[in-house]
Amino acid sequence: MGQLVLAAKVTHVPSLMLSETPDSPLRAAREPAVMSLRELGRRARERGVTSFVVFDTHWLSNFGYHINANERHRGAFTSHEAPQMIQDLRYDLPGDTNLARSIAGRALDADLNVTAHQVASLGLEYGTIVPMHYMNPDGFAKVVSVASPLFTSFEESRLLGEATRRAIEESGERVAILASGSLSHRLWPNRKLGPDAWTSIASEFNRQVDLRVLELWQARRYREFLDMLPDYATKCNGEGGMADTIMLFAALGWYDYRGAAEQLCDYFPSSGSGQVNVEFHVDM
Ligand SMILES: [Fe+2]
Repeated sequence: MGQLVLAAKVTHVPSLMLSETPDSPLRAAREPAVMSLRELGRRARERGVTSFVVFDTHWLSNFGYHINANERHRGAFTSHEAPQMIQDLRYDLPGDTNLARSIAGRALDADLNVTAHQVASLGLEYGTIVPMHYMNPDGFAKVVSVASPLFTSFEESRLLGEATRRAIEESGERVAILASGSLSHRLWPNRKLGPDAWTSIASEFNRQVDLRVLELWQARRYREFLDMLPDYATKCNGEGGMADTIMLFAALGWYDYRGAAEQLCDYFPSSGSGQVNVEFHVDM
């Protein structure tokens, strides 16, 4: 029997990578986020994680659900969206074809339109590459990346999350699930981009709702959070419709989840969006 042994909501902002360049002015601002991603990687290794499943809000698809089922993820990534921020980032990670196919199979059982792809030229997006850069730098665990469809529904993403949990339990793997995406996600418009854009929020309304969400998580008031999640995703400009968060909570058991939320770094803004790293403990 497989087991879910780690679950977390994580940031993947490119400014993490920029902060690593020598003399970067962002080094101090991003250090807590970088250190907490490394800590999550350390915990994953300590718990014997064999596979990461990453719900990647930066891999945006149109129709249907898509899973990268390649046996090996290898490439040099330059972001189309922000080539000035992520260039030639090399990655070489094992994939988990069996788990990817099993997730697709269980989702098909629920009548979802899902495809697990084995296409050598299908690379990873930075919503997967950036967290793996810190958490799985030597490829100690296999990686399955799941896209976030744009033309989908809240309910369908919930089914995909539930299917993922069933597939994990049927597998022989010890799995970490990562919801890779921001909290609120309104970005600064071009004209307002300046040095402060890295470290300021574009909407005070969004910041206040993000902080309230973190309070609800701390208090394990997940039912209230889940009931507000459709409005939160819409009104606070959710990245990829917050599909990563919907899938994560579906995999955790939705209203039945009672675990502790451990916030691993302070909430921080990046390009106007709200970011955080939080582990949702599954050792209840
Ligand atoms: Fe993103």
